[in-house]
Amino acid sequence: MARRFKVVDLFAGPGGLAEGFSALRDKQGKRIFDVALSIEKEPSAFATLRLRSFVRQFDGKLPRAYYDYISGDIEKEELIRQYPEEWAAAEQETMMLELGTDEAATALDPVLDRIRKEAGGETILIGGPPCQAYSLVGRARNRGIADYDATKDTRHFLYKEYIRIIDRLNPVAFVMENVKGMLSSRVAEVGIFDQILSDLETSGEQGYVLVPLVSAPKGAHGGYVIRCEEYGIPQNRHRVILLGIRTDRAQAVQNRIAAHHTLVPELQQTTVAGALSKMPKLRSGLSKSADGAEAWKKAAIAAFRAAARAAREAGAAPELISRLGEHARTLLAAKQPPPRASTRISRVPDERLREWIEDPKLKSLPNHATRGHMESDLARYAFSATFAELFHRSPKASEYPEGLAPAHENWASGKFADRFRVQRWDAPSSTITSHISKDGHYFIHPDPLQCRSLTVREAARLQTFPDNYFFEGNRTQQYVQAGNAVPPLLAYKISFIVNDLIAN
Ligand SMILES: C[S@@+](CC[C@H](N)C(=O)[O-])C[C@H]1O[C@@H](n2cnc3c(N)ncnc32)[C@H](O)[C@@H]1O
Repeated sequence: MARRFKVVDLFAGPGGLAEGFSALRDKQGKRIFDVALSIEKEPSAFATLRLRSFVRQFDGKLPRAYYDYISGDIEKEELIRQYPEEWAAAEQETMMLELGTDEAATALDPVLDRIRKEAGGETILIGGPPCQAYSLVGRARNRGIADYDATKDTRHFLYKEYIRIIDRLNPVAFVMENVKGMLSSRVAEVGIFDQILSDLETSGEQGYVLVPLVSAPKGAHGGYVIRCEEYGIPQNRHRVILLGIRTDRAQAVQNRIAAHHTLVPELQQTTVAGALSKMPKLRSGLSKSADGAEAWKKAAIAAFRAAARAAREAGAAPELISRLGEHARTLLAAKQPPPRASTRISRVPDERLREWIEDPKLKSLPNHATRGHMESDLARYAFSATFAELFHRSPKASEYPEGLAPAHENWASGKFADRFRVQRWDAPSSTITSHISKDGHYFIHPDPLQCRSLTVREAARLQTFPDNYFFEGNRTQQYVQAGNAVPPLLAYKISFIVNDLIAN
């Protein structure tokens, strides 16, 4: 019989990694990785995690009440009232804790001990310490802080807490995810990454062997950088993922490790169209002026006209100027613009994603409503999306008409125009990050006529979350959660490798 494992998920965010691992089943249809504990400090992500843990209690046969809840037809209390045992189990499996604090360790350690015992030692640790301090953006920002001292930044050292937990749980394997900035981050002139690798290799009771998840030239750290777009994820996302197999187990499977069990690249990339093109069309809202279908229509027509004018003044390509004019006329001729939200279920065009994302029992599509934008941004979105429609790429700073820049921006720096990025239909999207919660400039929808940024559900699809995955919290929090996650489908593919290496 195949072995089964109890999984502990740290810094769990909305639970992307756990979603992938818990989807792997053996020949009898039983889960191989049973998520026993997820830990997260942020309340809305924690609420999402707890709800998903509740979902797992039904082992794939979700009750109607769940769909009623995510459709907004019943309150959470009613869902819990109908399924108290499942909810109690979800409460047991999820903890809202700030790791790295003494209080968290006091609450957590007995739970880790229990899980280790109940699993007969067959545990897996997933999740990585947070990335802010490692991330390139974070480091650039930190440099701007006059008295910033990296050696005192506790975020750098949360991975120490991770190692303390490895020591306590002594898992058979761990999967630690982080941003690429981790490879080059330095504290007191010491490269953090090599330090982390050696700490991981010597942690726990037996130590760990690090197994690259992708094929890469020997010596480089490339085997630890996963380019999601190569593995069927409709998104360019490059992340460091470290897989450690406990030394005693690794010795038993030396030949399998040597045979290089790595992720297998797909022959063809999955595109934005493959994930989103059949979704209901939506219009954006107006954030700084009264919103409404008529007001939006007027504002959008004005936006296309303003974009056409600015493009003409900047000497842009004639076909771009005329396409902007055509879009203005199409909007003018339309009786009604599309709605701001739609719960209509739609097919996932790409067959490789379809089964993973769709749920035939879904009553309505959750988390799919647009935000409002400033009228001045509508013109920038109109220009960028029309440009991408014609030339299959976002405009570069030098191609962006000066007439669309806000008055206070230093145009010559090119920084302003770089803030606008259109997602192309025919390629994987750019990296969905938590920045999507701040503004949508980097995540402009490819259809110019919708004149908007991506919804939470669209971001979630590009991250390969199933459509029945419900993000709790307000919209800003939902965006942060979706942007933070490991794509569940990638996690599922990684779970195959972990299982292959350590199951028997
Ligand atoms: C990049 S996300 C993790 C994504 C997750 N692995 C997934 O697959 O969806 C990192 C998460 O760590 C949480 N976090 C940061 N510091 C924490 C701490 N000290 N204790 C617990 N959670 C923390 C953040 O709130 C964030 O949700």
